[in-house]
This record gives sequence, C-alpha cells and structure tokens, in this order.
Amino acid sequence: MAPALTRSVPRVLFVTPEIHPLNKTGGLGDVSSALPAALRELDVDVRILIPGYPPVLAGLDNKRKIAEFPAQPPFPSSALLSACSSVSVPIFVIDCPALYQRSGGPYADTAGRAWPDNALRFGLLSRIAAILGSDISPLAWHPQVIHANDWQSGLAPAYLRFHQGERAASLMAIHNLAFQGVFPPATVTELALPAESFDLNGMEYYGNMSFLKAGLYYADHLATVSPTYAREIQTAPLGFGMEGLLARRHADITGIVNGIATDEWDPATDPALARNYTVGSLADKAVNKMAAQRLLGLTVDPHIPLFGVVGRFTHQKGYDLLPQIATQLTEIPAQLMILGSGDSALEQELTDIAKNHSGKIAVRIGFDEKLAHLIEAGADSFLMPSRFEPCGLNQMYSQRYGTPPLAHATGGLVDTIVDCTPASLMDGSATGFLFLDMTADGFLSAIRRVAVAYHDKPVWRALMQNGMARDYSWGPGAAAYRKIYSSLLPDSP
Ligand code: ADP
Ligand code: GLC
Repeated sequence: MAPALTRSVPRVLFVTPEIHPLNKTGGLGDVSSALPAALRELDVDVRILIPGYPPVLAGLDNKRKIAEFPAQPPFPSSALLSACSSVSVPIFVIDCPALYQRSGGPYADTAGRAWPDNALRFGLLSRIAAILGSDISPLAWHPQVIHANDWQSGLAPAYLRFHQGERAASLMAIHNLAFQGVFPPATVTELALPAESFDLNGMEYYGNMSFLKAGLYYADHLATVSPTYAREIQTAPLGFGMEGLLARRHADITGIVNGIATDEWDPATDPALARNYTVGSLADKAVNKMAAQRLLGLTVDPHIPLFGVVGRFTHQKGYDLLPQIATQLTEIPAQLMILGSGDSALEQELTDIAKNHSGKIAVRIGFDEKLAHLIEAGADSFLMPSRFEPCGLNQMYSQRYGTPPLAHATGGLVDTIVDCTPASLMDGSATGFLFLDMTADGFLSAIRRVAVAYHDKPVWRALMQNGMARDYSWGPGAAAYRKIYSSLLPDSP
C-alpha cells in the first residue's frame, strides 16, 4: 500500500447507494452529495463509490474505465469508471450491467418489490469498496478510511476485517437502523465471507444474516446522524434488535447532526420558488403561499395557517395520523398540503381525505423535487410526526425557509428544533414546535398550539427569524467526520 499521508489530508472512500441529483430516494442522497463536498473544503481527499444505475451513468461526464474486476462467481465481471460530478467530488462508478442496468429504483422495481438479487448487488458494492481499501487494489489512490453508509455498504467493513494484508480503517454510518439488509444464512458463504462470521458475534441476526449488523460489528468506528439518535438506538425499541451490540460499542459511536446544502436550499436564490425572499423581505414569502395554494387547488387565503408535508409514506414518518385528524385540522381552520409516496394504502387514504376536504387539503402522490421546494417556502408550518427520525433534513430546510416546523420530539428533530416556550422566545432561540404525545390527539393539540402561535404576529415573526438565522451548513458536521477519520489513521495517538 502507499505510505500513509500526513494526518492533515486523510484519504477517504465514501461508499453510498444513492446520491442527489443522480438518484435519490431520501435524505441519504442529499447527504451523499453535500457531505463529501464539505469534506473537500476541509482538505479531506474524499472520493465517492456508487453503483452504476442508469441515471448515474447517464448523469456523469468524462467517464473513464480505470479498472476491471473479472467475474468471481457469484459476482459477475464489472468495471470501475472514474467520472466528474456536479458536486466537484471525484466519483468512482461500478459498471456492472448484469446487476445495475435496469429500470426501476436503486433498491426495488417500479412496483416497489425489492430486487431479488439485492444481496449480490450490494455485496458487490461492499466488496469493491473493500478491495479499493486494501493492498490488492488496482488503483494508485489508496483510501485510508472506508466510510460506509447504511446496510447497502455494510459488508465492506466485514470484507476488510477478513482481508489478509494491509487494509484501510472503516467507519459505518447509520442513517436508518430500520433498514437492515437481512438475507438467508447461506448468503454469508455465497458472498465469499467466512462461515464463522455467521455468529451472534458477527453478522448473524435472529437466524438470518444482516448486512447492517456486519457493518456495526466489524467497523472500526460507528457514526449516526444525530446525538439523540445515537443514544436512542442503544435501547429498545429504536435499536431494532441491534441495541445490545450498539450498547456494547457505545464508546465507538459518534452522533453527528447532518447539515444541508445551503446553496441549493436557499430561499434567496431557489429557482423553484414563485418569489425569492430573505429574512429582510418576508412579505415575499406570502407570494409562495399563494402560488402553492393555486397550484394545488387550495382556497387562496393569505390568513389561514397552511401546513406542509413532504416525505416517504412509511410507518416511520407517522403520516398515518393525518387521516385521523384531517377534519378537525380543517375546522381550526387550517389547510394542509401533502407531497409523498410509499405505502399504497396510505396513498389512497390521503388521496381520499383530499377529495373529502376539497380546497382545504391537497395531496400529490409522487416524487417531485421542485414541488418539495415550493412547499417548504409556501407552507406556514411544516409537519413531521415521525415515530423515529435519525436526523431529518426537511425540518432544517423549513427553518431556513422561515417555515417553523412542528415535529415529534425524537432523534435528530430534538437536536435541530428549539421548542417554542416563553423562555426560548425570550432568549431568541425558539425555532419551532416539538410534541411528546405521539397519538392523534397529541398531534392535533400540538397543531392547535401552532395555529394559536401563528395568529400571534410578534411570536410568529420571531420564530421565522430565529429559524432563518441559524447555521445549517455542513461545516461543523464535516469537521466532526474529519476528526473521526484522523483518529482512525495509523499514526493517530
Ligand atoms: P428520509 O431520508 O428518512 O426520507 P430526510 O428528511 O432525511 O428523510 O430526507 C428526505 C429527503 O427526501 C428530503 O430532501 C425531502 O425533501 C426528500 N423527499 C422525500 N419525499 C419526497 C417527495 N415525494 N418529493 C420530493 N422530495 C422528497
Ligand atoms: C435516513 C433518515 C433521516 C436522515 C437521512 C440522512 O433516511 O430516515 O432521518 O436525515 O437518513 O441521514
């Protein structure tokens, strides 16, 4: 392997299954473009490794083949391409048409069914990451740290640990412990991992094998996307069965709050808005409210509180509470606009409440980046009744857009929203609302609380201004990751 560089310029391979704007299903896509860009600003030599799905190959320029990996059953042959990205971070793409060249999403087909060969698809991602991080790498560039993200790259720390020879250190970043990459036990040996790793002290997980557990067990260090979530996952129920392992490894876990791409999410310049605005021109925000009301078929009314929702329709996000409170919400009076997709029963239920409350509730099913921006700007308040939330990005987008969020007090939502109380209003820290009682009644009374505050002009103005003044950039988070990398380098104390 190349001699270790000075500790001041760590070489890091950031391994991810999705990246904005090429292919994104949620916040990991946003993090995978914004964090590496911020790390490069801090003089970290970070490069990204991602599977070559069609939109990734189509969206990258100057692709060049830099290595070939011959077939090694069950892995088909693949090539490594280097490419340039819009985020100015070098990208390595795994070109393996047999595994990645198909229409549909990165993890599932168009009907939402997980790809049946996901173990192989993400086994290959993990395996190539580990090869690039070891002394058998075909490249001249040798990363010192492999930064794996979520279960899809969870086997990389395991492959590295079992490599006989020099290897990079590994960091396993948990963005969501609910997705665990669970496959039948035989997958272990099929993917060329030692049979003995199928063990409680290894990657065995309730009789199956888990990519995520492999990462949590074998990585040199663990990170997650907020300090509160780092604590929550060490106990049931939010440890999702991994709490024992995580509690044992508590000294190796760092919670780092995500940042956001402050250039893309900036109300002063956002091209998706009907009118740009700043903290000094808040009257212009109202133009976006009107635009959103018009676009979505809501009654145009500048005075009624308008709540916004954007997200994946899953149990995690708690949107199943919305149909239960829809009528009472409209009677406050208030309006609601919802953008998202996922659970088909919930898609139907939400579509139905919109039909039954025409002009007051609007629902758009689908993934629409532009509309997501308009909702952040046009809503008065943004709703996040998440049952759990490792970090959450939308509440930071909404605070930056002068749209105070209302969120369940869990995970990163606790770390990024300051609840509105007399004390927090007085000291100028209040930015939104948190509620504890995760029931329809609890959520509804929190919504009523927001509506009361909305009509108290000085209070509402203070919330908007406080939120817009806060720093959500990746600077502090990137510095914290850099510190972890440095601690993992061979010459660190
Ligand atoms: P998660 O990663 O759990 O989905 P986050 O809040 O971290 O939650 O990030 C979600 C990201 O995906 C945000 O950028 C959000 O705006 C975006 N998003 C989610 N659903 C949609 C949708 N239907 N249309 C557009 N953007 C969406
Ligand atoms: C996950 C989490 C979300 C987090 C995102 C990026 O999908 O659900 O809370 O913000 O990853 O880290």
